[in-house]
Amino acid sequence: MNGFIQWSTLVLALVHKCYAGAYIPSTIANNKGSAEYWTCDTGVDLFTFDYIPLGLGPYSEYYDAICGYPPAIGTILICSVELAYDKSEEYHELIFKTATSSCDQYSSYHYEWTYYKEQYENATKYYQPLDEIANISLPLYAPTSPNLTSLELEYKGYRGYYFDLDSGTWFSVGICGYFLLLIVISAIHNFFRQTSIARSINNSKFSKLCQKYIIFPTLFPNGKFAQECGWTYFSGLFPNRIQFITDVFLFGLQIAFYCVSYEYKGTWWFGSPEHAWQRFVADRTGIMAFGKIPLLVLFAGRNNFLLFITGWSYSTFLHFHKVVACWMALDTLIHSVAYTINSLGYYVLYLQDTYFACGVAATVLCGVILLQAMHPFRKFFYEYFLVIHVVLAICFLIMCWYHCRELGWLEWLIAACCVWFFDRLIRIIRMSAFGWRTATLTVVDDQLMKVEVPKPAWWYHSPGTYSYVYFAGWIFWENHPFTTVLEGDNLCAYIRVKRGVTYRMWNRLIANNNKLQCKVCFEGPYSNGGSPKLNKYEEALLIAGGSGAPGILENAAKATKGKMIWVAQSLQTVKAYQPLLEKVNIEIEIYLTKQDGSNRACTVQDLFIGSESENLSTESSGKESDSDKNVELKGDLNNVSISFGRPNLDELINASVNNSSAKSIGIMACGPPVMMDDIRNIITKNVTIWDKSVDFFDEFQIW
Ligand SMILES: Cc1cc2nc3c(=O)[nH]c(=O)nc-3n(C[C@H](O)[C@H](O)[C@H](O)COP(=O)(O)OP(=O)(O)OC[C@H]3O[C@@H](n4cnc5c(N)ncnc54)[C@H](O)[C@@H]3O)c2cc1C
Ligand SMILES: *[C@@H]1O[C@H](CO)[C@@H](O)[C@H](O)[C@H]1NC(C)=O
Ligand SMILES: *[C@@H]1O[C@H](CO)[C@@H](O)[C@H](O)[C@H]1NC(C)=O
Ligand SMILES: *[C@@H]1O[C@H](CO)[C@@H](O)[C@H](O)[C@H]1NC(C)=O
Ligand SMILES: *[C@@H]1O[C@H](CO)[C@@H](O)[C@H](O)[C@H]1NC(C)=O
Ligand SMILES: *[C@@H]1O[C@H](CO)[C@@H](O)[C@H](O)[C@H]1NC(C)=O
Ligand SMILES: *[C@@H]1O[C@H](CO)[C@@H](O)[C@H](O)[C@H]1NC(C)=O
Ligand SMILES: *[C@@H]1O[C@H](CO)[C@@H](O)[C@H](O)[C@H]1NC(C)=O
Ligand SMILES: *[C@@H]1O[C@H](CO)[C@@H](O)[C@H](O)[C@H]1NC(C)=O
Ligand SMILES: *[C@@H]1O[C@H](CO)[C@@H](O)[C@H](O)[C@H]1NC(C)=O
Repeated sequence: MNGFIQWSTLVLALVHKCYAGAYIPSTIANNKGSAEYWTCDTGVDLFTFDYIPLGLGPYSEYYDAICGYPPAIGTILICSVELAYDKSEEYHELIFKTATSSCDQYSSYHYEWTYYKEQYENATKYYQPLDEIANISLPLYAPTSPNLTSLELEYKGYRGYYFDLDSGTWFSVGICGYFLLLIVISAIHNFFRQTSIARSINNSKFSKLCQKYIIFPTLFPNGKFAQECGWTYFSGLFPNRIQFITDVFLFGLQIAFYCVSYEYKGTWWFGSPEHAWQRFVADRTGIMAFGKIPLLVLFAGRNNFLLFITGWSYSTFLHFHKVVACWMALDTLIHSVAYTINSLGYYVLYLQDTYFACGVAATVLCGVILLQAMHPFRKFFYEYFLVIHVVLAICFLIMCWYHCRELGWLEWLIAACCVWFFDRLIRIIRMSAFGWRTATLTVVDDQLMKVEVPKPAWWYHSPGTYSYVYFAGWIFWENHPFTTVLEGDNLCAYIRVKRGVTYRMWNRLIANNNKLQCKVCFEGPYSNGGSPKLNKYEEALLIAGGSGAPGILENAAKATKGKMIWVAQSLQTVKAYQPLLEKVNIEIEIYLTKQDGSNRACTVQDLFIGSESENLSTESSGKESDSDKNVELKGDLNNVSISFGRPNLDELINASVNNSSAKSIGIMACGPPVMMDDIRNIITKNVTIWDKSVDFFDEFQIW
């Protein structure tokens, strides 16, 4: 809410600025005409004019003549047009527009660009060649043209400089284009998965090889993706292979963009060649950094329309958010270092300029944001991380704004602000549509609680959706993602207690006799979109573990053929999900890891009837010897088999896929990180030896 208010004020301020007619320099591919104009500006310097400046603009002493005194305007425009390699009408127009904008900015005159066009046409009538002027030290009364041959070198220098500036913009567009390409490819893949095309293709040798080596695997064989890597205080999340491959291409692009096509060939420059290089590198990287900000913001948003188009999970987008952020930070660093070297000796003096000081501040903020967003902070202080991250990001944007307010390239910032604003706006709309509703919290198992809240009529529910849950109270803005399931007319979330808000709510719940009425808000529904894709497969293999159970159970309820494997701690945990369990129509294999007992099969109903009379733990001690014996109980409900101990997922998945008579199997899993990585690795290794069409839907997300 707070963030929203800040953002709406900022965006309103921006919009106000734009419409109040305040000058916002636009520099995206807008430098054409500038090289000619500024070269000729040097040329006109040779002449004197019988003219008194109006003195209303910041630099009118110098600019008023070439902006408002016909002979001077004529001279600079004739020179610019003559100098330009491009002789087309369109290019002339660009020159006139350059004149218009620079005059508007620096001089006392604020004409339309057509004025300069008319002035040029008039000037050609009165043109007086340079060699006909008797004494060039005397004031000019008719337009002429400076010696163009002597300006040629400077012109080349300016062209190089402007080319380099524009290259920063084009390379930024290139990065956006790269992501657009990825998005198009993913959109096609996603479309295939949503129709049954993927199912048919996945059986081919080529597709299986892609799955084995590119799409499914963790970065390194048998590696980690859902689990963190490293040590307690120095950890990180690794990308999976497909993400890494896209990162490598991005790396290539960035390095190429840093290195290629600088138009500096020893031509004229304001200073020494070193100075020229520093400026060229600095300008390009600075603009490239700006060009990444909209992507950065877009990828971090919850309401990113690309989620639907690409079928990527939110955590995938956050991966790209991090990668783009790192590149932006490197761009910023290079930009700042190059400018620092460039301004050695004047650094303290320059710091008095707002734009320079803000640039320094933005660079520092960028570094701080990067540091505070490291994995250990997110792991241990997620809530603090988030608040600080958002506040610093806003400060960063503001610093960028003041850094470039007079320089240009603000379109990127405006785009970023709009994207951010609309994400927040949709979040607000979602939240206000839901409102604060009274929820019932109950304890359903050790360290597991259930939140039940009446479903609003508009809520579109599909299995595996999640929402961000807000609890009314002191820190009402704190929100956490939880899988949301539908039970009758209620939305429910099963919450495993961790250290933060879940712990506080748990304590309140316990203190209140295991039942609590509380106002909550569900911001959602957000979806990974896995469910409809899974249903394209003939058979489903669903694997659940830990707090991943609710989503998988709902998916299982939708499946008509297949099997569900559920690794839970104890029968008590399984029973906590009774309403969901009863809706499942496929076979369920339950593995209880923290309980001993004899394996058995029963119906779902027996599971709950039996619970009152028997104590599985005590029963087990007597029957330990024949743990393989299946106790069969009759019933007309779905069959459940219960086994004790940790399952061998290798064999289980392998055999389940191999034994099935179906031609295509969709595997969906959600569970603790270790389990997710195991499953991923098993599927990766065996996908080519399974002679059926297989797809894997990873419902687990971490960021
Ligand atoms: C898509 C999705 C669905 C989920 N569904 C369920 C579910 O159905 N049941 C369930 O018990 N848990 C679920 N979780 C996990 C749940 O979000 C975290 O357990 C919860 O946020 C922890 O809150 P806490 O304040 O107690 O965390 P803390 O104890 O402060 O932190 C525990 C860990 O959770 C992570 N975390 C904390 N806050 C957030 C947040 N706002 N966003 C993302 N990660 C965070 C941090 O990495 C941290 O290391 C889901 C997570 C995701 C991403
Ligand atoms: C045309 O150019 C001449 C010479 O520069 C100048 O005296 C005259 O005022 C110009 N006419 C217009 C309409 O600006
Ligand atoms: C040109 O004009 C200046 C005065 O403006 C004068 O000093 C100079 O002698 C003149 N040169 C010639 C060649 O007439
Ligand atoms: C223009 O300048 C070049 C060298 O700078 C010189 O060779 C040439 O004679 C000059 N032309 C005129 C018309 O002054
Ligand atoms: C069930 O067994 C556990 C130990 O395994 C024991 O602590 C508990 O009291 C038993 N419950 C009942 C109802 O017998
Ligand atoms: C459950 O098991 C019984 C006995 O093995 C079998 O007859 C019945 O068809 C099974 N039901 C389902 C739904 O699989
Ligand atoms: C997996 O199944 C294949 C047959 O489909 C078999 O060759 C392989 O040995 C199995 N691996 C394990 C670990 O069961
Ligand atoms: C794989 O399936 C075939 C036939 O369905 C069966 O004969 C074979 O034993 C299975 N292999 C494994 C390892 O389960
Ligand atoms: C797979 O089939 C083999 C024999 O064909 C059997 O031994 C095994 O239990 C089956 N596995 C599963 C998970 O159904
Ligand atoms: C299939 O998976 C099992 C378990 O991970 C592994 O032992 C086996 O080697 C795999 N098969 C192939 C062909 O890689």
